[in-house]
Amino acid sequence: RTVYVNGEYLPEHEAKVSVFDRGFLMADGVYEVTSVLGGKLIDFEGHATRLARSLSELQIRKPMEDEALLEIHRELVARNGIEEGLIYLQITRGAPNDRDFMFPPEETEPTVVLFTQSKLGLAESPAAKTGIKVISIPDIRWGRRDIKTVQLLYPSMGKMMAKAAGADDAWMVEHDHVTEGTSNNAYIVKGDTIITRQLSHEILHGITRAAVLRFAREAQMKVEERAFSIEEAKQADEAFITSASTFVMPVVEIDGVSVGRGTPGPVAARLREIYIEESR
Ligand code: PDD
Repeated sequence: RTVYVNGEYLPEHEAKVSVFDRGFLMADGVYEVTSVLGGKLIDFEGHATRLARSLSELQIRKPMEDEALLEIHRELVARNGIEEGLIYLQITRGAPNDRDFMFPPEETEPTVVLFTQSKLGLAESPAAKTGIKVISIPDIRWGRRDIKTVQLLYPSMGKMMAKAAGADDAWMVEHDHVTEGTSNNAYIVKGDTIITRQLSHEILHGITRAAVLRFAREAQMKVEERAFSIEEAKQADEAFITSASTFVMPVVEIDGVSVGRGTPGPVAARLREIYIEESR
């Protein structure tokens, strides 16, 4: 695999980042995951806009224009022959020459890393046909989940807890209401209404979420942006998640309780179909 590090395209084993990198020492960095379908980037603009916002909220210098970033994405897709998969992008506050809680001097260059992950079956996913199982766990992350930082230890632990419980993923709960999945946004369907939590600092503003809600409204489906509890979700007709790496993925079980008939529902299936069709 060819990866990109600070201006250079290198074989992955030759790419290097400093031991003093703020991303490594302090999780002082942000990231984006953009999907590739048929060799084409899905919603690059949305990801670039959210990246710029994450950087600005943390006062990390934006290292290059969106055009240049797009060029690197395209170059990596081409060099690695990615038909279907993901592009991971990370920008950290850079590498000063020591460990220090204080932000480094202005002139410190942000570290920019990109790599590709080939994932055939992103669109024709077997999991989308059976649906996934989730467990609920408390949301104990920090209060600025709208910033896409690389602080992924708790989400990572959440996925491990799900696996230990025989499930596929976890939905996080705060003040009795679901915030989001460990790496995706959460939805339920009641009757003909799609319900998903409103945007705030409590959740990541998913790029897939924005697209899916737009397609749903264009298809005259009803959308309600509000918080819901795990109890309400268990009694819903359908549940699903969205993210760049799963698109629209049905959830068929929550904490061991079947949602609806315990099989993927028609609303999730239709949204998945529309999303993939519009993204091709
Ligand atoms: N995760 N919520 C969280 C906490 C996320 O980490 C993500 C994305 C989403 C969905 O956002 P989007 O639709 O823009 O992918 C929601 C990526 C895929 C990841 O961490 O791999």
